[in-house]
Amino acid sequence: MPVAPRYELADGMRTQVAIIGAGPAGLLLAHLLTRGGVDSVVLETRSQEYVASRIRAGILEQSSVDLLTSVGLGDRLRAEGHEHRGIYLQWPGSRHHLDFVDLTGRTVWVYGQTEVQKDLVAAGTADVRYEVAEVALHDVETDRPYVTYLDREGNQQRLAADAIAGCDGSFGPSRNAVPAETFERTYPYSWLGILADVAPSTDELIYAWHPSGFALHSMRSPTVSRLYLQVPNGTDPASWSDDRIWAELALRLGHGQDGWKLTPGPITDKSVLPMRSYVQTPMRHGNLFLAGDAAHIVPPTGAKGLNLAIADVTLLSAALISQFREKSSVLADSYSDTALRRVWRCTHFSWWMTTMLHTGDDPFDAQLQLSQLRWVTSSSAGATGLAENYAGLPIGF
Ligand code: FAD
Ligand code: PHB
Repeated sequence: MPVAPRYELADGMRTQVAIIGAGPAGLLLAHLLTRGGVDSVVLETRSQEYVASRIRAGILEQSSVDLLTSVGLGDRLRAEGHEHRGIYLQWPGSRHHLDFVDLTGRTVWVYGQTEVQKDLVAAGTADVRYEVAEVALHDVETDRPYVTYLDREGNQQRLAADAIAGCDGSFGPSRNAVPAETFERTYPYSWLGILADVAPSTDELIYAWHPSGFALHSMRSPTVSRLYLQVPNGTDPASWSDDRIWAELALRLGHGQDGWKLTPGPITDKSVLPMRSYVQTPMRHGNLFLAGDAAHIVPPTGAKGLNLAIADVTLLSAALISQFREKSSVLADSYSDTALRRVWRCTHFSWWMTTMLHTGDDPFDAQLQLSQLRWVTSSSAGATGLAENYAGLPIGF
């Protein structure tokens, strides 16, 4: 479908949708809008290289893979990504496989957020202005909203639009432009994450409960492993030597248990990620629509952050295309409520996985966690509930 022309005004540029943020939410929204014949401009504070190399999420739900495939972004994903039937859940002495295919008929894919980002850039469907500064939103409650910013050369610019999409993550200005109710939970622990040049020691992800703290064995490719350790908030990654990290991973992941071995390797990246749940409602104010981390944050234990961003912009693109091309505001009016149904489901699932698997110093809590883990891994009702949420509900749920 043809893209409507963007035209210069005396006082700046005009587009149909001004998108703030070129993370996965912003770039995918631009891609979907372009395919639907709606014009957009994306503003991003960071450089293209910085955005493309940020190491973040690694798991795509079935519905995210189906969506990306249906809009021409599935070729490399299907060639280089790895489809997993399920996950392992374990605690000292026991490891159990939950087979999502048997339980729900759905799978998940290992394909890094960095790869999704590269595929979106390669598609060339988004007009992105990188390295902008001082982005400010104006008149969002009117039908003539606009954004002001400094371009890469430091010139003041004005971008007028019919709608603004706030896809600028948890630190951008969009969420503050929506008068909203906020819901929040912080957790008394963080994740120390590493990337290592070593073949994964497992065929599918291992989520491990351990009295010393949670550990996760994930991966990016047949030669690159991604692993995480529960650490106290405020931990300095430099205070963990490579040897100490591998020793703690071996302990928590059960090296030696039933002959299983964790193979260490050179660590190429080390960072600490705080855990937080946050939801802001509504996700719309006038002609400003929020999507992805700009509206909600989940702790990564459920692998939901990126998938929620994809689900949001799938709904939002359909709403904006219908608004501009069919002059119908029905989907735009229901966007926030529809998106929030899934957001709250994923918020609950992420909280539940997090609180079931991270350990503290309360022995009563530990017994409840172990009881829950035994139930989830031995009852088909318990296992199916986890599988349905992890492999993901349909977009629009
Ligand atoms: P983002 O990816 O945050 O993109 C927002 C973009 O907006 C950024 O490019 C930012 O530079 C830009 N921006 C910010 N301010 C402005 C401004 N003023 N003007 C213009 N642009 C602006 N999820 C998982 O499922 N598993 C994980 O392992 C995992 N690890 C993570 C690690 C970290 C350190 C973080 C922060 C998140 C992690 N997540 C993980 C969550 C997941 O990566 C996010 O949910 C996902 O990136 C959301 O995409 P988004 O496009 O909404 O936001
Ligand atoms: C990752 O590979 O980075 C990853 C996988 C699963 C999670 C969180 C992070 O739950």
